[in-house]
Amino acid sequence: MTPLPRTVRAEALDGLVEDDPVAMRSRRDLQRVHRFMGTRSIVLRALRGWSMPRGAATPLRVLELGAGDGSLMLGVARALAPTWPRVELTLLDRQALITPAIIKQYAQAGWNATSRTVDVLDWVAGPTASLPISGRPEHWDVIIANLFLHHFEERQLATLLRAIAARSDHFFACEPRRARFALAGSHLIGTIGANAVTRQDAVLSVHAGFRDGELTSLWPTGNGSWNLQEHSAGLFSHRLLAERSRTS
Ligand SMILES: C[S@@+](CC[C@H](N)C(=O)[O-])C[C@H]1O[C@@H](n2cnc3c(N)ncnc32)[C@H](O)[C@@H]1O
Repeated sequence: MTPLPRTVRAEALDGLVEDDPVAMRSRRDLQRVHRFMGTRSIVLRALRGWSMPRGAATPLRVLELGAGDGSLMLGVARALAPTWPRVELTLLDRQALITPAIIKQYAQAGWNATSRTVDVLDWVAGPTASLPISGRPEHWDVIIANLFLHHFEERQLATLLRAIAARSDHFFACEPRRARFALAGSHLIGTIGANAVTRQDAVLSVHAGFRDGELTSLWPTGNGSWNLQEHSAGLFSHRLLAERSRTS
């Protein structure tokens, strides 16, 4: 059977304003889609595999790109907090979706979360800003992206991955797997009560998703030496783990 070609098309949710009731409902659907896909467990397994300095003088600096409403990462924070107790988390998205309530929930989990509303391509092109609390130049222990990289064509992706490699020591992405089984699953998303926007975007996301070593092939050379692992994960996901090697 021939592999599905990769096609990137604008998703309906991205064209709706933050407080459009249809968009708000679709973001709630996304939380159910994540449960269906097992995303939180996939993210946790990856992050727990990395040894992070415990009791370090400075908190771990974590950035999520395309963080949405921050709810997926909140589940990760709650589960990881006993082993990653001091985290300075930045939730970046071009839409202002992070509420004071969710920031408070992060604080209850022991993580200090802030939001940054910016298009990621401006983040890539912009000067490296200082971190909110430490004031140190922008460098992240961990950058994470969930259901985000598939929004971009190869050329933009290569640029984005170059910025990530220049500004971090670890990168994890969990994206839709571009495969016929995942495509069939995306057509059934209505069975979990998803609205029309979510149903349409689920199918588009699979067509824009990844397989094999496609993300690895776009990873830059020249930003130190990195260990890269790219695999399918669960039934519907595709993940990339990138760790800067300690000698670089
Ligand atoms: C499918 S949602 C995923 C949200 C969250 N990561 C999750 O998994 O629940 C994709 C998110 O990426 C954001 N996004 C899309 N294009 C973006 C861009 N160019 N810059 C920043 N955020 C973007 C959207 O606003 C949306 O919140």
